Amino acid sequence: MDRLKISGGKPLSGTIPISGAKNSALKLMAAALLTPEPVTLTNMPNLADTRFLSQLLSTLGVEVYWPKGDATCHLNAAELTSTIAPYEQVRKMRASFNVLGPLLARYGHATVSLPGGCAIGARPVDLHLKAFEAMGADLLVEQGYVKAAAIHGLKGAHIVFPFVSVGATEHAMLAATLANGETVLENAAREPEIADLADCLNSMGAQGSGAGPATITIEGVEKLHGTTHDVMADRIEAGTYAMVVAAAGGDVTLTNAPVAALSAVNHALRNAGIIVDADKDARTLRIQRNGSKLNAVNIDTAPHPGFPTDMQAQFMALMSLADGTSIIRENIFENRFMHAPELSRLGANISVRGHEAIVKGVDALKGAPVMATDLRASVSLVIAALAAQGETEVSRIYHLDRGFERLEQKLTAVGADVRRVSAEEE
Ligand code: UD1
Repeated sequence: MDRLKISGGKPLSGTIPISGAKNSALKLMAAALLTPEPVTLTNMPNLADTRFLSQLLSTLGVEVYWPKGDATCHLNAAELTSTIAPYEQVRKMRASFNVLGPLLARYGHATVSLPGGCAIGARPVDLHLKAFEAMGADLLVEQGYVKAAAIHGLKGAHIVFPFVSVGATEHAMLAATLANGETVLENAAREPEIADLADCLNSMGAQGSGAGPATITIEGVEKLHGTTHDVMADRIEAGTYAMVVAAAGGDVTLTNAPVAALSAVNHALRNAGIIVDADKDARTLRIQRNGSKLNAVNIDTAPHPGFPTDMQAQFMALMSLADGTSIIRENIFENRFMHAPELSRLGANISVRGHEAIVKGVDALKGAPVMATDLRASVSLVIAALAAQGETEVSRIYHLDRGFERLEQKLTAVGADVRRVSAEEE
């Protein structure tokens, strides 16, 4: 298993290009199942997760042409050979579950493994399943699989989500495009990736409106056609590099940044005393911290436009060096503080009480061996390591490879000392 060796304490300078958004790309890839015509996705991030999904799509019979390292992915679901998504593939990555809706909508039946829980929480899919039932599907959950059928096709439905779910909103949108009649989704998620998916679906001939506000309306059509769609830039990757610079110090410009999607993160950074110059037109975000102290800032994670849960671990790493105490509340996932004990190994002073972490800022962190536990938690350790004195070794970095494209190269390019060590090298 590879590890990262990081020597901290070096101020950073230069430019970091932001890649396409993992969370958007995964749903856009699933959208290709809705049409027999080719779908081309540009600005695709080369990540373990997007590669997993391309393998699953190939298993279903989708022709995938996506050379290694390339940012353009060609998908052609002209003729599928299977509507079964097996456990071995879905368990590797939860978002694979999103093939259920498109398969059901286009073919009238699908068998997809339940994704199971994951380190950050139980993450059930009950809202997804209720949405499909409301659209007329017959569902049987048996031996870890969802067997879904809608012999006469899905029908439009009025669905009111009891709470906001990004995945359930996207999944229902995908299915509703080919349903018979109008679907209205109330209390829908408003994450920027939802608008990206809606743009792609509409460019395929879907009749949707309102992605962005909490009510989305989709008038089902008989057929969708192919398209070429540019994946939106990754707001979590951009926010993460902003925190890297905030923690380590320096002056770095992020290019191709989804500036408008980062309001809550930029607001928190400015409150912490970081200089953030956001240029929406140029799509750049310049982050500066030159020796200034960090103010302690409280945050509460919330659905968009609130502070993203996917940035909570990174912000905790930053706050561990703040001048004062900050309170960080996690309101989306029930078990998303696994980075706290690892950050403590680097000298952070964090106590966790239920869904609240109390972070008392310390003067300095010191390098130590630490272990990544999930995707965003692992990058919080990288942030802390870059700000720490001495060397930190982060193990289990396969978590990082799921969601951060060329992490070491991007960090090295701005002056960080980060090295990947493979098990064979030692
Ligand atoms: C997506 C993102 C993830 C992000 C999360 C919240 C992807 C691939 N992943 O995950 O990075 O952290 O949004 O912004 O896009 N829930 C239920 N029943 C359901 C669905 C969800 O109880 O049927 C619960 C979840 O356990 C969680 C909360 O609702 O506590 C929100 O989850 P949701 O918004 O659905 O997250 P994901 O779509 O899984």
